[in-house]
Amino acid sequence: MSNILLVAVDPAFGERVSSLTGHHVVAVDAHASSTSAERHRDFRPDVVFVGTGVPIDRALTYASSVSADWPDLVLVLVSPTTRRLARRAERAGFEHVIDPGTSAADLERLAGPADVEKPADAAHRVVVVASPKGGVGKTTTAVNLTGVLAAAAPWEVVLVDLDLQFGDASAMLGLTPQNTVVDALSAEGDDSMFVRTLLTIHPSGFYLLAGADGPADGGGVTGDQVRKLVSQLSTSFRYVVVDTSAGLLEETLASLEEASDLVMVTALDVATLRSTHKELDVLGELGLVPAGRHLLLNRAHRGAGLTVRDAERMLDVAVPVVVPRSDRIGLAANHGTLAIDVKDARVRKPFDALAAAISGVRPTRHSHRGEKLA
Ligand SMILES: Nc1ncnc2c1ncn2[C@@H]1O[C@H](COP(=O)(O)OP(=O)(O)OP(=O)(O)O)[C@@H](O)[C@H]1O
Ligand SMILES: [Mg+2]
Repeated sequence: MSNILLVAVDPAFGERVSSLTGHHVVAVDAHASSTSAERHRDFRPDVVFVGTGVPIDRALTYASSVSADWPDLVLVLVSPTTRRLARRAERAGFEHVIDPGTSAADLERLAGPADVEKPADAAHRVVVVASPKGGVGKTTTAVNLTGVLAAAAPWEVVLVDLDLQFGDASAMLGLTPQNTVVDALSAEGDDSMFVRTLLTIHPSGFYLLAGADGPADGGGVTGDQVRKLVSQLSTSFRYVVVDTSAGLLEETLASLEEASDLVMVTALDVATLRSTHKELDVLGELGLVPAGRHLLLNRAHRGAGLTVRDAERMLDVAVPVVVPRSDRIGLAANHGTLAIDVKDARVRKPFDALAAAISGVRPTRHSHRGEKLA
């Protein structure tokens, strides 16, 4: 027996699949609501039929996302096809492209059992990027760190914009998302397949779960919802990078409960350094500083009146990663591109070092005060 998921297929096709005996069939439409996700919380499909109710680009994104993680899942695109579409579908991870008129007998053949679970991977990391202050460079850090991790592990990284007021990672990445983290948080079930349909693809090889459209949208989210979402994503992706709002909001604390790493972003000014010290103290008292703790000093420049050493004295810890103040970083953000793609080693190296400290791979050539804090 197979578990079969039908995503936005036409009704006649759906009926033909449902008539196959001995299979468990669940159907959702392209805008599957949280209620439908809740209803099917324990449903893990063996075969997924994706119909024409899903825009083709979204179907391909979805396929490349799930096929990387569930190689045993049989993905079938149900659509009138052209050779070009068939090639794109195959590259994205669809095993078959079939016509919506495919007979029940042929469908029966596609619906063979395939019940293999992917083993848990101990190398999975959840990295929360935080800071007590706004505007210090959390999102800049999160997007560029994600870019470096994705270069090493394409399609195994998801960036979650947990800024529930004015999430702007998508703008910094030049993306126009159709869905946001709020849609994912309100999916009360445990359906990671559904959450994957909400991701926006970045051409560099990672996914974004975009931030809320505005404060009205992100209100009412609970810590439980955040914990569940982060933990769910961490079973599907090798790296989950979480961008947060300034300060210790409930959603940030909840994400830290699931975190393997904290990247604390600070700056060369007395107020930010003091607040950073306090925030680290408070998180320590709450038991919310994960084993991987990384300090990143952003916008370092000579005219600040403070040195990195001064900052380390004030914080009472080493600052292993220092990002210089650079017009290129601001420009990249305004152009919706990654600063790490700018040909400037001063900008790239600190993010390489941070990624290396997180992924456990020591930077070689790019070493930049790259040791991880204990
Ligand atoms: N090292 C840097 N040099 C120059 N500009 C920078 C640097 N880091 C960040 N910026 C710019 O500063 C602005 C704020 O950065 P960013 O959005 O990353 O901060 P944030 O901490 O995420 O802010 P918020 O709290 O509002 O979410 C952006 O325009 C960004 O491009
Ligand atoms: Mg931000």
